[in-house]
Amino acid sequence: MTLVPATDRNITRAAMALRDGALVAFPTETVYGLGADATNGEAVAAIFEAKDRPRFNPLIVHVSGLEAARALADFSGRAMELAAAFWPGALTLVLRKLPGCRIADLATAGLDTVALRVPAHPVAQALLEAAEVPIAAPSANRSGRVSPTSAAHVEADLGDRPAFILDSGSCAFGLESTVVDATPQNPRLLRPGAIPRAEIEAVLGFPLAHADPQKGIASPGQIASHYAPRAELRLNASEVRDGESLLAFGDNVPVHNGACVNLSPKGNLREAAARLFAALRELDASGARMIAVMPVPAEGLGEAINDRLKRAAAPRGD
Ligand code: TXA
Ligand code: MG
Repeated sequence: MTLVPATDRNITRAAMALRDGALVAFPTETVYGLGADATNGEAVAAIFEAKDRPRFNPLIVHVSGLEAARALADFSGRAMELAAAFWPGALTLVLRKLPGCRIADLATAGLDTVALRVPAHPVAQALLEAAEVPIAAPSANRSGRVSPTSAAHVEADLGDRPAFILDSGSCAFGLESTVVDATPQNPRLLRPGAIPRAEIEAVLGFPLAHADPQKGIASPGQIASHYAPRAELRLNASEVRDGESLLAFGDNVPVHNGACVNLSPKGNLREAAARLFAALRELDASGARMIAVMPVPAEGLGEAINDRLKRAAAPRGD
């Protein structure tokens, strides 16, 4: 049985499964989330796989409280005031990651920032306490479907993909959390949500800035500010040309003498997804100017991997 009542015992079992890398769907006061250990890249990749997301958007990372959040991100500027006013609750804060932050690159799409939320729902709180890891969780629906506000919605969309669906009835808000970028001096509203803009502005004492459409943060999930490699990418490469570095996949690696990172020597898409952003960073850091990218199969997570590679190869913009 995947769908189970959110009893103490089931929460403990779900927390153990989550620590082992499984997916767990759980209620929050906004919508049900599809959670994975945020420090485990392959577990996070399984979220995208289960949702059938054709793109890797950065995910919200849930933590049990301010102390856990402060171990991951920088709370300078107005972040502390916002956290004090709205946590636990339906506000998500985008903050700069601290050096050594344990969150997997895939959960933040390789960004230097992380979206953190402390949910108020007692079941979400109990799961976080028991799991003792930060939990990355988008809404627990298939890509393109509406967000689930009951465990039955989650089951209808995701079936037995999560190891557990913790049932605790309907969500109080039924609308996703409000996302605020608290990294600039003047925080910006990235996604309207369960906490009205006016309540946040009342705490700040001034209006929230608008998201910069140049940066593509127009609507939920449409954020374009992923890690953008400095190097140029040449896709579907079957050979490595002079001066090129190599982003490989599988065990049939062409002969070359420059830098090389293999996304998955075994040809495993989940492993490749988990390594993608770190691999781009690593090749950038090695001074690569042009990266030959071996073909990655288009099925399953390969669709999102190829989407990301195409964006990285395209002239800058989105
Ligand atoms: O109510 C909610 O927020 C639900 C529950 C489960 O907590 N979660 C949710 O997560 O809606 P998700 O992953 O579907 O939404 C993430 C939103 C997206 O709009 C994404 O672009 C933005 O947060 N986001 C995440 N990380 C970001 C970052 N580092 N910088 C800017 N925006 C980010
Ligand atoms: Mg969603």
